[in-house]
Amino acid sequence: MVTRSPDERALARWVRAHNRWRGREVFNLLPSENAVSPTAKRYLASDLAGRYTLPISTTFHGEAIDNSYAGTRYTDRIEELGNRAAARLFHGRFATVRPLSGHIAALSAMAPLLPSGSKILAIPPEQGGYDGYAPGFIPALFQWEVKPLPAGGPGGSVRLEPALQMIRQERPDAVLLGQSFFLFPYPVREIAEEVHRSGGLLFYDASHVLGLIAGGLFQDPIREGADLLFGSTHKSFFGPQGGLLVTDREELFQRIDPALVWRIFDNAHWNRIAALTQTLLEFERVGAEYARTVVESSQRLGHELSDLGWPMVAEAQGFSRSHQIHLDLSRFRERFGCGPGELARRLEPQGLILDLVGRLGTAEISRLGVLPDEMGRLARLLKSGGIDRRDIRAEVRQWRSEYPTLRFE
Ligand SMILES: Cc1ncc(COP(=O)(O)O)c(C=O)c1O
Repeated sequence: MVTRSPDERALARWVRAHNRWRGREVFNLLPSENAVSPTAKRYLASDLAGRYTLPISTTFHGEAIDNSYAGTRYTDRIEELGNRAAARLFHGRFATVRPLSGHIAALSAMAPLLPSGSKILAIPPEQGGYDGYAPGFIPALFQWEVKPLPAGGPGGSVRLEPALQMIRQERPDAVLLGQSFFLFPYPVREIAEEVHRSGGLLFYDASHVLGLIAGGLFQDPIREGADLLFGSTHKSFFGPQGGLLVTDREELFQRIDPALVWRIFDNAHWNRIAALTQTLLEFERVGAEYARTVVESSQRLGHELSDLGWPMVAEAQGFSRSHQIHLDLSRFRERFGCGPGELARRLEPQGLILDLVGRLGTAEISRLGVLPDEMGRLARLLKSGGIDRRDIRAEVRQWRSEYPTLRFE
């Protein structure tokens, strides 16, 4: 019998407690997270978790080898299945599931294609863009100049005419679409035409909306003209934490793919890749209905909260076409005397998990099986617990217990 140390026992307790709490007792409304399927979880915990493969042909002390490791006959087949499924789902001929996260996928795409001194237009964080693309973060590593792409439309959506004008004026090496606060699709086709006319590339960071695109909703960036699509695999896409990258342009893929290993990372975490491959295949079966449910629920939740007096962003545009809706923060504070941080702190002990920056997401609750018709009930609970300060714990627990398994898997 193994005698575990006190710290090991504490660790086991915290993991069990976490799994019970986040997996069974609360509704998660974070737009950045989702629930991984039982099959994908099994693969995460499989033998692959401790294995290497490095399928690169090289010579070592005069001997030709096609992998530095042995014992990889299944690993390489698993990866091939994943790459093929990603290419099918996102409509590009070339894909890799190796990037370890959305951020690493962005690095993987951009670093090999943009020499130092390149100019990039990206949506700034003040308008919901990803912080990693702001000056001082990824661009600082490569001496790229970043300028803000005009995105002051409803909910931070891109303003087409000013964006096209800026592309004509600046002639950037790349335009980077994608946001962390992401409500509406972009006019990808028009932007792609303008960027290509001036000799640049169009990147589409689909981290937040990957699961909607996989379900055939929101938009179809590669077919609409984006040169590269990349992003996280664990937000609206319900895979394990990780990243992927897809393109239809062979010449770009030939510059990216060989540059991944030893520049961006070494080991690509093959248990993650097996779990991600499983998720890609799940999406091929259930993705369309899942994505429809997610978007219908986010729109319904926007309406219901607005009917209860919550100031919401982009009301006139129907709140959202994605898995997120946003509180209108200044009007919210004016009306209720609190911001999104305070709201989230009030609701977490009651069993409703929200982020502290005013986004609400319907991806994970849809995956559980909560339906658009139930958004009225959810809105009333949010108001009751978050604004009226009533005790809603029992009702949330009871309601959550009705979803012991995932509806979409
Ligand atoms: C738009 C966008 N891109 C990239 C990332 C980074 O993703 P990851 O956490 O998977 O590295 C995020 C994270 O939230 C994001 O919102």
